[in-house]
Amino acid sequence: MSYNRRSFIKSATALAALSLTELQAIAAAKELKTDGKIIDEHDEAYWHNVRQSFPLTKDWTYLNNGTFGPSPYPVIEAVHVAMMDADREGNYGSYDSTPGKIAKFVGANDNEITLTHNVTEGINIACWGVPLKKGDEVILTTHEHIGNCSPWMSRQKLHGIVIRKYTPAPTAAETLERIAALINKRTRVIATPHIPCTQGQVLPIKEICQLAKDKGLFSLIDGAHGAGMLELDLHDLGCDTYASCSHKWMLGPKGTGFLYVKDSFRDTVQTYYGGAGIDDGKWDLMSDPVKTGNYAPSGHRYFGGTQANALYTGVNASIDFIENIGIKNIHNRIKSLGKYTQDRLLEFGDKIELITPTEERSRCAVNGFRIKNMDYQKFFEKCVESKIRIRSVAECGLNSLRVSTHIYNNHADVDKLMELLKKYA
Ligand SMILES: Cc1ncc(COP(=O)(O)O)c(C=O)c1O
Repeated sequence: MSYNRRSFIKSATALAALSLTELQAIAAAKELKTDGKIIDEHDEAYWHNVRQSFPLTKDWTYLNNGTFGPSPYPVIEAVHVAMMDADREGNYGSYDSTPGKIAKFVGANDNEITLTHNVTEGINIACWGVPLKKGDEVILTTHEHIGNCSPWMSRQKLHGIVIRKYTPAPTAAETLERIAALINKRTRVIATPHIPCTQGQVLPIKEICQLAKDKGLFSLIDGAHGAGMLELDLHDLGCDTYASCSHKWMLGPKGTGFLYVKDSFRDTVQTYYGGAGIDDGKWDLMSDPVKTGNYAPSGHRYFGGTQANALYTGVNASIDFIENIGIKNIHNRIKSLGKYTQDRLLEFGDKIELITPTEERSRCAVNGFRIKNMDYQKFFEKCVESKIRIRSVAECGLNSLRVSTHIYNNHADVDKLMELLKKYA
């Protein structure tokens, strides 16, 4: 490759400029430390400072955290530094601290956490790992992300399991009744999302897991939107597995996730995917018959091979960033922005249909809606023209729109969307 002085100077200048901004933002992020104090969710000065920790451009209004959470500078910097260290020194590094850090963050034990690349991978490990036979029934919602239905659909094709489904109801109590009504002597699994991607309602997972336990069923939870949005205590929640990611509400690097498998459930979830690190290294191809090793007594039995250490360093930094502010403060702030969004949508009366429940326990940071007189896809295009990012929801013929808000958002961001809606609703 020939040396191009002009492009070299351009990229070096860009790097230097970025580093300065990053350094200032990283220093500012430290000032956000709350030391466990409760921050008012309406303390706009504090939340404005939080916003400064993100490199998000002001040209776009980002209301789509449900798809992925943009990372703050300290996370980006942690990944950058870890990559530089590894590549400069030729040192592979380590991700050993990450499962323990995630475990503490979500109320689990270190050995209950498997590192994954995304939610889908965690769901696949759990789905394929549970022993099921032809005719066994699995309960899903009608609101699944493809990541929590295609693995089960494949098992339907390959193993003859039967998928039963319920539609989440406007209240937690009614949702529980709908699930209970599906349970019969062939039911084996309740595989439900904590927060469906479609309209963001928070499902009563603790009660669902208790129901599963009472009926002798496995509870395999798609927790894509749980970690970082809610104060999670997985032991208290009582699920058998919980698949989540760091790249949505935890604001971590994209392509990082984790699967929780309850300690006492690990031997039930079979290991179908092997590689370096999954066992005690006592395998021997020279012996006859070939000797296998013993699976790791931890979530490591489900993942093997070279890992993206720098990204996991970024996951650690994202947990530090969240804990600096406090997950309770974050939850309160984003729930309050979610309520503000609901209230603004409800002001439109029958011109707009809010499809997310207003019940206190069933709502948080994600809201779905339909516009009576406009095709959802058309409005989505208008949003792109106005540089507003939301998500259109085609899943299950819902033909709706989804708006999700995190700590880098403020009321003005929501108002911008509402002003656009006024033009078309
Ligand atoms: C509820 C739900 N489940 C699963 C997924 C899949 O997540 P990932 O892309 O991390 O595999 C998503 C992604 O948006 C989701 O919203």
